[in-house]
Amino acid sequence: MCGIVGYIGNQDAKSILLQGLEKLEYRGYDSSGIFVVDENKNGHLFKEKGRIADLKKIIETDTFCTVGIGHTRWATHGRPSVKNAHPHQAANHQFTLVHNGVIENFLELRETYLSDISLSSDTDTEIIVQLIAYFAEKEQSSTFEAFKKTISKLKGSYALALIDINQPDIIYAAKNKSPLLVGKGESFNAVCSDAMAMIQETNQFVELMDGELVTLTRDEVKIETQDGTIINRAPYTAEINLNDLDLGTYPYYMAKEIDEQPAVLRKIIQAYQNDLGQFQLDKDIITSLKDSDRVYIIACGTSYNAGWAGKHLLENLAHIPTEVHLSSEFGHNMPILTKKPFFIFLSQSGETADSRQVLVKINAMNFPSLTLTNVAGSTLSREADFTLLLHAGPEISVASTKAYTAQITVLAALSEAIARENGIAGDSNMAHELGIVATGMESILSEKTHIEHLATEYLRTSRNAFYIGRGVDYYVVMEAALKLKEVSYVQTEGFAAGELKHGTIALIEENTPVIAIITDKVTAGHTRGNVQEVNARGAHSLVIAMEGLEQESDQFVLPEVHPLLTPLVSVVPTQLLAYYTSLHRGNDVDKPRNLAKSVTVE
Ligand code: AGP
Ligand code: GLU
Repeated sequence: MCGIVGYIGNQDAKSILLQGLEKLEYRGYDSSGIFVVDENKNGHLFKEKGRIADLKKIIETDTFCTVGIGHTRWATHGRPSVKNAHPHQAANHQFTLVHNGVIENFLELRETYLSDISLSSDTDTEIIVQLIAYFAEKEQSSTFEAFKKTISKLKGSYALALIDINQPDIIYAAKNKSPLLVGKGESFNAVCSDAMAMIQETNQFVELMDGELVTLTRDEVKIETQDGTIINRAPYTAEINLNDLDLGTYPYYMAKEIDEQPAVLRKIIQAYQNDLGQFQLDKDIITSLKDSDRVYIIACGTSYNAGWAGKHLLENLAHIPTEVHLSSEFGHNMPILTKKPFFIFLSQSGETADSRQVLVKINAMNFPSLTLTNVAGSTLSREADFTLLLHAGPEISVASTKAYTAQITVLAALSEAIARENGIAGDSNMAHELGIVATGMESILSEKTHIEHLATEYLRTSRNAFYIGRGVDYYVVMEAALKLKEVSYVQTEGFAAGELKHGTIALIEENTPVIAIITDKVTAGHTRGNVQEVNARGAHSLVIAMEGLEQESDQFVLPEVHPLLTPLVSVVPTQLLAYYTSLHRGNDVDKPRNLAKSVTVE
């Protein structure tokens, strides 16, 4: 959540920071701000509620500035407002700071050190900058020492960038748990939460580890640990294609990313198949998995929902018992584990704090782990034993679509590679089956106009809705419901079809939309029975059924695919229903209220 940027060089810092913040806006978008220093060493602070576009309107252009820091916020402490927007300043205005994360002991620090200071915001962040000023003055220490001392007092997560107006040729930075990278260039250096923010300036980035402190000047980057050990870490080249960030002719990234799914599937097939057209993955991953007695999938949100489809594949193809857990629950309420667990972390961003806290714990227990992520070099990728990339290209829309189908596809490849290794794959060829899925997705995408009509007919004005399904369709309706609620704000529940009658059916009123997914011939009849039950109570039902199981009255027919891969097609019309509902309700599809793309606080 929230994105930070810092730049020190010879170019126009305001425009570089604003451009960077626009790229980071997916991380938080309730308010934003920049602090820049001009050639006469005067500081200028601009903050605004709302989007970067709103901030741009208040930026004065009459000064040329070559140093600055910026922030786009997803509020954790204090409502979105100008006073709570970052950057925050110390009472004496000497120090200015941006922060991503949560300071858990901010109340305690305020009471211990800052009781005499009247604060100007409700944030935990302001405590950090006031504390830097406090230590600098009380101990007559250098800014770096005051920064370091302050950091040693903080509990929680932070990525920080600091400017001391008396030393405007330096930016100080530090991180713990929240992501932060150094961007290196010719006669400039930068810090940012995500390489995307600075990719227009450089593709050379240095990863930072928790606890490290950084001093940036125009020509030098000094990284050190809290005990003063200097770190010399070589930069890596960020491979981000600027075209991938382009919307093209699409009105929203969500529409573009839904459309990209067949291409993503084909990319994954190519990335993980051998010359025989069979899936073959890193031998060490397969050996470690073969050696385990149970897989624990750990994830949040859409990735968690993909985990259920992954369980279906791992159990049915690879015959490995698999449990799926929410990261935020698992870490603090760990079940009794088997003797040889293997952990799979699903995370599009690779930065989700809830998932990371679990990884830290299971690393301490020495259990093997694999991260499936879309972002090479992300925290969860670096800290797990193994990584498999999703190859989905940057996912910008807050609502995840192509990452869900990419995760399931990579899990299908993994499951089959294990099955082959164990001699139980038989004639199965998932690479071929996934090719059929990609074509099936294309045929669904060609029916957008029909789906748009369904969205307006069923969901445009509805207050609530239900998705129902059984077995693997139940897994998909959990995702379908999450998608619809997050972008359209229609209160939606994804329900096991057979469970409705045990209580929730009480919520069905005249015209309540109930959308059923039917792809499994074993349970199709039962789910149809459940549709009849809700219809009898006035529901407005919509059935999405697979070819071969369809009835004339069904509203949408899915192309037939391999029974273990049905989530990859059945989810697509639900993504489109969510998209069009949001669009027709006039919402900001890519940036739904209250959300952020990368959830880097617990
Ligand atoms: C879903 O559309 C997202 N808004 C959200 O649920 C997301 O899937 C979740 O925060 C997990 O993110 P990750 O995959 O980057 O870890
Ligand atoms: N805790 C800080 C605030 O509420 C930073 C939030 C964030 O990282 O998004 O302002």
